Amino acid sequence: MSTKTEISTDDVLRERSPRRLGQLVPNGMLEDNYPRNMWWAAAHVDEVKDGPLARWILETPVVIYRLENGTPAALYDRCPHRWAPLSEGHVCGDKIVCPYHGMEFDTTGLCTKAPTQKMQPNIARIPAYPVREAGAFLWIWMGDPEAIDREPPEVGYQTDPNWSFLHGYYEVAANWVMIRENVFDLTHIAFLHKNTFKQNDWINAPDSFMEGDVLCYQQEFELAPLSPLFCAGMGLPEDKPVKRVQKGTMPSLAISFSDWNVHDPAPEPGRRSDFIMRGCHIVTPAQRGRTHYFWGSAFDVPALSDEVIAKTKASVIEAFDEDKHLLEIMQRQIAADPRGLSYLEVTLGPDKGGIRVRQILNKMLEAEGRPPLKGGLA
Ligand code: FES
Ligand SMILES: [Fe+2]
Repeated sequence: MSTKTEISTDDVLRERSPRRLGQLVPNGMLEDNYPRNMWWAAAHVDEVKDGPLARWILETPVVIYRLENGTPAALYDRCPHRWAPLSEGHVCGDKIVCPYHGMEFDTTGLCTKAPTQKMQPNIARIPAYPVREAGAFLWIWMGDPEAIDREPPEVGYQTDPNWSFLHGYYEVAANWVMIRENVFDLTHIAFLHKNTFKQNDWINAPDSFMEGDVLCYQQEFELAPLSPLFCAGMGLPEDKPVKRVQKGTMPSLAISFSDWNVHDPAPEPGRRSDFIMRGCHIVTPAQRGRTHYFWGSAFDVPALSDEVIAKTKASVIEAFDEDKHLLEIMQRQIAADPRGLSYLEVTLGPDKGGIRVRQILNKMLEAEGRPPLKGGLA
């Protein structure tokens, strides 16, 4: 006599109530799930200096460049003649010139010159996108320009000389919502990053709450050694017990901050007792299933030495590589599994922040008249 104790995948899908399976609040990670009417980060300012930059943003090829006076501009990166990417061309004055047959376009996307004929083809026009410079990034609005109702997020600290702003970039082969949720999913730090962050007292996640339309969390920790990632930036020994107040905010789906407010109760004579490390997580959908991830770690300490910057960057990258590796495997596996999103998704208490991210996303899509995201069983 055999006793069946294993539960097969099909058992799970068949025997439970479909309403209890799948995503109670979908994240749409296999679909076009990004709002258009908001500012997304297009590039770090240093990436757009000497000529056009090609970048996929919201599944659209975009060329970003600067006018003679330094003002940034962005156009659809496809010439309307024979579709050459304008990013392969060059900037001449305030015009961008197609590499193939030399047509020129102004910042509104209008063709102002077609050198191979006398007449300008007045239907030759390409989409142009509003761009703004804020902090260390260029921000782009890919939706309806009439719907612009705010400026890009306030990130002045990134260029404030009283701060040292370290930053880096990844292209992650995972949907942007997975990264957005990951940075509000704090309990993974004690597990996925146990050998890098080593902030292993972070087992209980804080409650998340809304302040207006900003998603927030706040959590206080008793005396414990600080993650070695941030000790050098604050000039603290790695084994010194300090107090922490962890505070996170997400002013928009494009950007969130995680502030490590650190208090050293017994500073060396003449040394500060309070420091901030402001983590910054910027995500921008690229091509389907791919995301630009710009990260920042800023210390409220001016002019950190090259040595401290190099050490801190190397250890942050080592930790973020762990996220990238796992999220890319998750994306690949879920996309390849014919069940897709039609599978049990258990939500734990600490996932409340991530669920709020999905709710905010769904509300924004609804406001744009887009269909709700699919989740659960089809
Ligand atoms: S493809 Fe651009 S000018 Fe011909
Ligand atoms: Fe992580």
